[in-house]
Amino acid sequence: QHRVSTMGFPAVPAPPESERVCVFGTGDLGRSLGLRLLQAGYGVVFGSRRPHSSSSLLPHGAQVLGHAAAAQSAHLIFIAVQREHYDFLVPLANQLKGKVLVDLSNNLKKNQYPEANAEYLQSLVPGAEVVKGFNTLSAWSLQNGPSDANRQVYICGESVEAKQAVIAVAIKLGFSALDRGFLSVARELEDFPLQLFPQWRLPLRIAIGLSAAFFFYLLIRDIIYAYVTQSKDISFRIMVSLANKVCPIVSLIMLSLCYLPGVLASFLQLYRGTKYRRFPDWLDRWMLCRKQLGLLALGFAFLHVLYTLIIPIRYYVWFKNRTTQFDMTTAWRGDSYLSLGILGFGLYVLLGITSLPSVSNALSWREFSFIQSKLGHLTLLLCTAHTYLYGWNRFLSSSTYKWYTPPGYMLCLVLPSVVLLLKLLLITPCVDRTITRIRQGWERGADQ
Ligand code: HEM
Repeated sequence: QHRVSTMGFPAVPAPPESERVCVFGTGDLGRSLGLRLLQAGYGVVFGSRRPHSSSSLLPHGAQVLGHAAAAQSAHLIFIAVQREHYDFLVPLANQLKGKVLVDLSNNLKKNQYPEANAEYLQSLVPGAEVVKGFNTLSAWSLQNGPSDANRQVYICGESVEAKQAVIAVAIKLGFSALDRGFLSVARELEDFPLQLFPQWRLPLRIAIGLSAAFFFYLLIRDIIYAYVTQSKDISFRIMVSLANKVCPIVSLIMLSLCYLPGVLASFLQLYRGTKYRRFPDWLDRWMLCRKQLGLLALGFAFLHVLYTLIIPIRYYVWFKNRTTQFDMTTAWRGDSYLSLGILGFGLYVLLGITSLPSVSNALSWREFSFIQSKLGHLTLLLCTAHTYLYGWNRFLSSSTYKWYTPPGYMLCLVLPSVVLLLKLLLITPCVDRTITRIRQGWERGADQ
């Protein structure tokens, strides 16, 4: 009775029902899923409204039947159909009784419908076990296989047995499945594919905001000031000099923004005398986007280094015609700030590389936190020292403060200096001892 006739293909012995799965929907997603299932050794039966006309488009080896017959031939049915067309399942209630229905659907925008698609499906076919899953995969990633795409699939549903059956298929297809709980989580899973780089949004806004603010600030100080006071047009400097100020300034501020929340969290624990109280939401959110802040900061530092490369070429003539006497102190200062910048940038790159999942997964927690915390603070120290040495004693000269405003590099030194000072306080032996005890579970006031 398992011999099923395929449309357009010779009859083949059908695999046992446990190894046979059904796919409703012959669109891109349904076809790609069918192909992967076939490659993984499953017998695949497509359910279609017009079995005769859709067979030519389907992967070779798959069977095509009408919906009712297809539903009867397998225990697990993937619903790769859009929610608007779910009505066709209602008359199939008898055939779908006790079957596992995997809802793969997604929506075009958040909160499009009052309930999640999977919950809606369950209400249409109460006799079936609905499992939400695989919706975070695209047709493309299904076709290319898990080696090329994200390996994780999320599932949720009410029945443990049904979820186990779906997990078994996911594993056989080469994915790792994560059970997220009951069907009420379906809405969250359906929102996943609609997210657009959620963790990058805040860091990107900070980067754009800082760049715009410093660009206009420096435009007024460097270009407009010269135009107004000396009638000199040096607007060409926008392209290199100004850009080469904005980039490192934004980079240094963003690097300090990576380390500020950690320092604040330590002080909060110190103040509260316990680690068992939640951090405020804003601090939690800030800590969760440190990696993105750091990677963007690295990008800006990289641009600064690239811009710096062209300075010697542009100013070669100026250096050649310089007649001022060689000054040992200036030479030391110049070489020191360049060297500190290079060392800082080297460590910066190391921090960026170790934040990549493939690298950080290969490190133990101790190694990771050594690099990200100890070497991270050292990077901040080197970059800050680079900027202090660059400024040197210019803060003494009144011509530095055009229109009574401090230069950009002075402004950008405030935050890193504060972070480094606070960190210095935290690593003094008596404070460090208390913090370590709190982190090990000790609570102030609990001893008495
Ligand atoms: C300024 C070189 C890395 C932050 C400068 C200047 C040079 C330079 C030549 C002066 C630019 C000018 O005269 O307009 C380098 C080299 C680096 C490096 C060769 C590494 C290969 C870094 C890093 C940071 C940084 C990693 C940290 C984010 C700064 C800042 C300034 C500066 C804030 C002052 C910008 C201003 O004029 O307002 N650097 N740097 N540098 N650098 Fe770097």
